[in-house]
Amino acid sequence: MQFEFSANPLGKISTDAVLVFAFQTGKQPKLLSSFKRLNAKLQADITKAIETAKFTAKRGETLDFYLQGDFLAKLVIVLGLGKKEEFIADDLRRATGSLAGKIKNKVSSTALQIPSEDEITLSQKESTQLIAEGLILGSYSFSKYKTKEKDEKDLATVIISGSNSRSAKEGIEKAEVYAEATILARDLVNEQAAIATPTYLANVAQDIAKKDAKHIACKVFDKKEAEKLGMNAFLGIARAADTAPKFIVLEYVPDKVSSKEKLALVGKGITFDSGGINVKTGDGMQDMKCDMSGAAIVLSVFSVISKIKPNFSVLGIVAATPNLISGKSLVPGDVVKAMNGKTIEILDTDAEGRVTMADSLSYAVKEKATKILDFATLTGACLVALGTDVTGLFSNNHDLAQDIKKAASAAGEKMWELPLEKDYKELNKSEVADIANIPNTRYGGAITAALFLEEFVDNIPWAHMDIAGPAFIAKSNDLGPKGGTGHGVRTVLNLLL
Ligand code: BES
Ligand code: ZN
Ligand code: ZN
Repeated sequence: MQFEFSANPLGKISTDAVLVFAFQTGKQPKLLSSFKRLNAKLQADITKAIETAKFTAKRGETLDFYLQGDFLAKLVIVLGLGKKEEFIADDLRRATGSLAGKIKNKVSSTALQIPSEDEITLSQKESTQLIAEGLILGSYSFSKYKTKEKDEKDLATVIISGSNSRSAKEGIEKAEVYAEATILARDLVNEQAAIATPTYLANVAQDIAKKDAKHIACKVFDKKEAEKLGMNAFLGIARAADTAPKFIVLEYVPDKVSSKEKLALVGKGITFDSGGINVKTGDGMQDMKCDMSGAAIVLSVFSVISKIKPNFSVLGIVAATPNLISGKSLVPGDVVKAMNGKTIEILDTDAEGRVTMADSLSYAVKEKATKILDFATLTGACLVALGTDVTGLFSNNHDLAQDIKKAASAAGEKMWELPLEKDYKELNKSEVADIANIPNTRYGGAITAALFLEEFVDNIPWAHMDIAGPAFIAKSNDLGPKGGTGHGVRTVLNLLL
């Protein structure tokens, strides 16, 4: 998608469609400034269309109609932003996102004017970023396996009328980076498990490092090397599959290291979760190519990290393997030993994510990370607790949790903190090993899974995000179609700034 600037008012731009924003009021919708820059005839036509259609500019409501006359664009789209008192920044991203979804395959260029600071209480940079992010993400589709319904008409050009300001340009640049990373995450998650294997993810990581070899290094440990490092929890889960497991490590080091901080980003990398011997039902398994969504976040963040240039070191860690069934599978009752020496009794092979992550988190500790963030499609229980749209956030550090909440809110990624309830620790007790991989109750399953992970972070400031709900959606939302969402990527990028 190309963004261009034009000094002309919207009525004088040659494009498929013109976009006008409006707030809902008690009476007529209030059209934003771009409207005032249209000639009197057009203003009258738009006002009449709004009246005829009884358009109220509710949040997400759109009105589109065709105009006659000397107007260069024939199609006008009015986009409702809801009531001004209730408006939040993310509404602008979502409004343009859902619009891009609606005009997919119909409109290849559009013109709009960025709302002014006083009418929308956002800086030009912010507004531009939100609009651009919405348009790019809302246009996304994963159609490589469609032989007929290919996207024919992408929204290729967006012309911004009036403001050619530096801040608008900065907003676009930021949106492009954020959207690029989000889209890589979506592509990785949407790819079938037969292609998106551990080796495939390792190759993606290596390619990312090659593009900026000066700042990014990539190491991939195969089964033998992982064995030497004592990663027997990860390798236990990997054992059943013929697919080679890969333990992927990325490291970004800035030009000038101005802080001692070393942030580790850990992503659950189960390329397909069948449940293992505790096999899932057909329904429960259908979308389980999404079980590497955490890994996709890590790789996607690294794919743009050279553009963000954090002034501290960042580690990316992914233990990649499918969780399959075979004669070599782990069975309930087996005990594996993680890299940090702790033993885990496997009581349910479907609680595999926490077992592989025991080794990824131990590795982050061994590498002297000063802060650890992990992302995992970890529990169905988190979906029960928070629904499909909200990530469960857990942290052993108050300030870190606050930082993440702020970053997530600015990114439009919903997260809600759940407690690391100490009294529940005993639920993970094992009779034969240091810890069991499932608790002895089904209540509070997102919390007990988080408490399990906490055993492997050694009191380092750490936050765990259970993205089981938002990572992969069953039906389209404002920012994209069914499938991988890339949820979490933009929160991390905000934290790197
Ligand atoms: N990958 C699943 C969790 C999941 C479920 C992610 C639905 C996305 C959507 C995970 O490995 C799993 O199977 N967890 C079990 C744990 C249980 C056996 C303690 C679950 O949630 O049922
Ligand atoms: Zn599982
Ligand atoms: Zn899983």
